[in-house]
Amino acid sequence: MTRGPAGRGPRFATRLLLAQSLVLVAGALTIWLVASAVGPSIFHDHLEQAGVAHSEEETQHVEEAFASALLISISVALVAAAAAALAVSWYFSRRIQRSIGHVAEASSQIAAGRYDTHVDDPGLGVEFATLAGSYNRLADRLEATEATRRQMLADLAHEMRTPLATIDAHLEALEDGVRHLDSETLTVLRSSTHRLRRLAEDVGAVSHAEEGNLPLDPRPLDAATVAATAVDAARDRFQSKGVRLNADLHPAGLVDVDADRIGQALGNLIDNALRHTPSGGSVTVSCRRVERWVQYAVADTGEGIAPEHLPHVFDRFYRVDTARDRHQGGSGIGLAIAKALIEAHGGGISATSAGPGHGSTFKVRLPPA
Ligand SMILES: Nc1ncnc2c1ncn2[C@@H]1O[C@H](COP(=O)(O)OP(=O)(O)OP(=O)(O)O)[C@@H](O)[C@H]1O
Ligand SMILES: [Mg+2]
Repeated sequence: MTRGPAGRGPRFATRLLLAQSLVLVAGALTIWLVASAVGPSIFHDHLEQAGVAHSEEETQHVEEAFASALLISISVALVAAAAAALAVSWYFSRRIQRSIGHVAEASSQIAAGRYDTHVDDPGLGVEFATLAGSYNRLADRLEATEATRRQMLADLAHEMRTPLATIDAHLEALEDGVRHLDSETLTVLRSSTHRLRRLAEDVGAVSHAEEGNLPLDPRPLDAATVAATAVDAARDRFQSKGVRLNADLHPAGLVDVDADRIGQALGNLIDNALRHTPSGGSVTVSCRRVERWVQYAVADTGEGIAPEHLPHVFDRFYRVDTARDRHQGGSGIGLAIAKALIEAHGGGISATSAGPGHGSTFKVRLPPA
């Protein structure tokens, strides 16, 4: 008997052939038993009724002819069926083995980290097509996750490099006596460590939120009040930059939210709007009921976002103008956090802009309580 790899029982072809042989043997045995038990007596009765044979000898001769014809036809049928079983087993097992072989091969490729491996539909029916389809989706998903992971690590390393280099350079200057531990040096060191701490906190927050294990403490709250709190928290900063902050809050019923988290998400949107709106401009925070949703919008009259950047602003570490946005203190993670927080509440977030110089609008939708 042919055995599969690692001795895990016989091969698929052997099993299929064994199963078919079992069916064949059962069929042949039944035919044989029935034919030898009842065939000769029925034949004998018919012979007598028809009056074909006249003597005992003739009867015996005809009956022997019947018995050997029966034996020959059963044997020939058995051999033909066995040959057909062999051919069918060979054909199907080859086709199935080939397609399973492809899946097995693709699995080991994926296990080795080559996520671009795909399998074709083997053309063996809907179940195999579904298997191939799910398999390919799995590979795509793993590839996307791996790309995000790699990108995130690269971005994180990149973000850490600048403050670490600054700390390094200042410590070296202190050791060499080029600098002294005065308030200027301390400010630079503090701001670098502050930047690193914020980065660590932000990365932690976004990972927790995206994995869905962020502890939420949802309570039914008045939707407009939630927005009013976020607006009040930002008012001073708007005043000192000379940007007008409007609140257009309509009664929109209750939302079942964690006030701190939603406050953080709206705060991130309002901060961004302030950061990207020059003095003299304005930012409007609104709250209203749209269809079955509670919708918040943060609209500014500032820089706007070019259409090619819009789909990416919610990606972690994405900044439109890398150098300038970083200089303004952004690590490009605020919108990723806002998105994860809103989605953890069963809501959604979107961005629109009429283009550079024409302002941007960020809309948040939450399910009503
Ligand atoms: N209201 C806005 N107007 C124009 N551009 C915006 C606006 N909001 C966000 N952006 C762009 O989207 C990018 C991503 O925003 P995000 O809030 O994620 O990061 P950040 O503000 O740069 O940094 P962080 O929020 O982590 O401090 C920003 O760098 C900016 O280029
Ligand atoms: Mg931001």
